[in-house]
Formats: sequence, C-alpha cells, structure tokens
Amino acid sequence: MIVISIKGVSKNYLIQRGKEPTFKGAIMDWLKRREPFKAFHALEDVSFEIQKGETVGVIGENGSGKSTLLGIIAGILKPTSGEVKVQGSVATLLELGAGFHGDLSGRENIYLNGSILGFSKKEMDERYKAIVEFSELEKFINMPVKHFSSGMYVRLGFAIAVEVDPDILLIDEVLAVGDEHFQKKCLRRIEDFQKRGKTILFVSHALELVEEVCSRVILLEQGHVREEGRPRDVLRLYRKMVQERDERLRPREWGTKEAFITGVRFLRSGGKEEKRFFTGQPVIMEISYLAPKRVDSPVFGISIHGQDGKNFFGTNTKLENYPIDHIEGEGKIKLTIERLTLFKGAFFFNFSLHSQDHRIQYHHLDFTHQIEVENLREEDGFLKLPCRWELEV
Ligand SMILES: Nc1ncnc2c1ncn2[C@@H]1O[C@H](COP(=O)(O)OP(=O)(O)O)[C@@H](O)[C@H]1O
Ligand SMILES: [Mg+2]
Repeated sequence: MIVISIKGVSKNYLIQRGKEPTFKGAIMDWLKRREPFKAFHALEDVSFEIQKGETVGVIGENGSGKSTLLGIIAGILKPTSGEVKVQGSVATLLELGAGFHGDLSGRENIYLNGSILGFSKKEMDERYKAIVEFSELEKFINMPVKHFSSGMYVRLGFAIAVEVDPDILLIDEVLAVGDEHFQKKCLRRIEDFQKRGKTILFVSHALELVEEVCSRVILLEQGHVREEGRPRDVLRLYRKMVQERDERLRPREWGTKEAFITGVRFLRSGGKEEKRFFTGQPVIMEISYLAPKRVDSPVFGISIHGQDGKNFFGTNTKLENYPIDHIEGEGKIKLTIERLTLFKGAFFFNFSLHSQDHRIQYHHLDFTHQIEVENLREEDGFLKLPCRWELEV
C-alpha cells in the first residue's frame, strides 16, 4: 500500500537575497525584510512513492532540499506545484525547536503539540507520563522550553513524536544532537516502529546510520532526485559526489619549483594583517617568493573562487601589463585590489607563478588561502558592479 505519493512536486521560495544557506537563516531573512522578489527553486519536479512499512532515508548536501521535502510531506509547507498524497497520521521531528513555543513550559508544549496532532486533552493526559519518562526531562518539564539545550529539545520532540504513535514518522537531522545514550534509545524506538509496520522518512548526515536503518534511500541534489534505490548503492554514489567536491577544493601546492611562493599575507590598507574584509574596502596581498636561480619574465597570478570552487575572477601581471624582467633570490610582490567588490561569504584566493606562455608552471597554491567577506549593505548576489541609476521623465 502506498502511503506517501509525491508527483512532480516543486517548491519555489520568493526571496530577496539568495545567500542564506539554512532554512532558519532564510526565515530570518524573510522576517527581516518581508519584500520577496526572487524565485528560488528549493525543489524541482520531485516524484516518488513510499510503501507502508518502509524506512526511507533522504540524503543530500546542505541546501539540497531535504527539509523542504519533509516539510511538504508533513503539510507544514505548501508545494508551489505538484501533487502530494499522504495516508495516515504523521508526526514530525523537524529541525531543532520547530513546533515548540519558547515561552511555554515543556508540559504546555506537550499538550499544544498533542492538540496540533489532533489529540484531546484526555488522550494527552494518558500519554503525558510516558512522554516525560521517555524524554528524561522530569526535572525540567515546567520550565519554559526556551531555556532548554538543543539536546533537551530533541528529547522532548522525539518523546512526543513516538508516544503519539503516528502511522508515519518524519525525522529531520535531529538524532545526531542527543547524547549517545538517548540516541540508542531513539534507535530502539525506531526499530520498534519498523517492526510494527510504520513508515519512516529519515533525513540524516550520519550515513552509517542511514545505511543501517533504511530500506531505501533517496539522494537529493539541488532540489532534484539524483538517485533512488538500495542504501548501499545510493550511499556509494553520494560518498563519491562528496569526495569529488572535496577533492576539487582540497588545498594543494604544485609546480616545478624553479621559483616558488613562500607565503601570502592579506592586509588592510593600513598594513594590518587580516582574514576578514568588508565589501568596498581595499585588500592588499603580499606574496613572498624565492627563486633559487634566476628566472626570466615570470608571471604572478591570482584567482578568486567561491565555496563550490567556481572561479569568480582571475588576473596576472601579464594581463595587467606589469612585466617583470626577472626574479632571483627572495622578494615580495604586492597586489592591491582597490575596492573589494565581493559580497558576503568565504572566498578562496589561489596564487600562481608561471612563465609568460604558461608552459612552465613554477608554483601554484590552490585552495590554501581563504578570506571572509562581510557586506554591511543588503545587496543581492556575489559581487558588486559599479553602477548608476538615472531617472528620465
Ligand atoms: N523559507 C525559505 N525561504 C527561502 N529559501 C529557503 C527557505 N527555506 C529553504 N530555502 C532554501 O531552499 C534550499 C533548500 O533548503 P532545505 O530544504 O533546508 O535544504 P536541506 O535541508 O537539504 O539543507 C536552500 O537553498 C535554502 O536556502
Ligand atoms: Mg535541512
């Protein structure tokens, strides 16, 4: 029997800035600025079915749409298009604290959650003791939950979710938060759920756990289903994907080393060394080199990359018409970026030293240096372009 059926589901978010990588961050953005203007596809044309009694893992890198998918199945989020059919009662353990009211006590939250799930006060009275017992929060249950630690949130959330005994349990990433003792307890409960033929959807970065617990795994990549199938196969593909990405960004150093870069310092205009800069400020890079023997007409280069390795900008002394006749021995070369036009984020700066015609690569430093950029204004995108508005009436 099919209990969850998703057909051609897409979810677009209207956002002003596309930079916050987390669900919570995006919500914060939204709260702060209420004026959305850009559609962002968190899920695109996602389809799958889940049979009763299956435990299905949902994996994928941060931002791939896992939480959005669970939110849609839980009925908390509405898909922009597509069809969602869910049969049976659903309990969710979504992101930390979701579903709790900070000013209310643990006890009040238990009743509040129960009523949201359609339980009467009396029905919750019957479950209350077991919930508190399972959560091991007896001593704190009358305290406002805003004073709870993240581990305590998870315990309370899990206890409610399992004690209301839903047909479908949705778990998003939370198990990793609790301590080991509690994790084990949760896993036993999950096994118990499985034995009783309940359906579980399980988002986790703990891949070993996914492999152990799930009968099937769905791999999301940028809002699409990249792969779906046996845990072992899908996890193998996912591990390969992650490794390839890490491989691309792995710090490395290479070249003939006839001449080489011995160090790089990032400086503010006053000469102070820094790792954090603001959009619009100058950035000075001081590149030290050593050429044990004379090297004629060398070219120094830099390139700037985003967190996915994408190249935003690159230049070198040849392109900037700054010929260097030769280098020999130790020295320094300084590159000044008059105004840093990157926006908020972390950026890799790669450095190179090569011959005029690129045929001899003396030395490269790839993904070894990183700076943080802060933007005090609220512009959108990755970089700032000099521009001007003019109204003509
Ligand atoms: N409320 C929102 N407004 C705008 N964008 C959002 C919102 N929620 C999530 N997103 C974006 O949608 C994408 C998918 O997010 P999410 O489902 O949380 O991914 P995951 O759980 O896999 O990390 C992310 O790029 C995220 O920034
Ligand atoms: Mg998530």
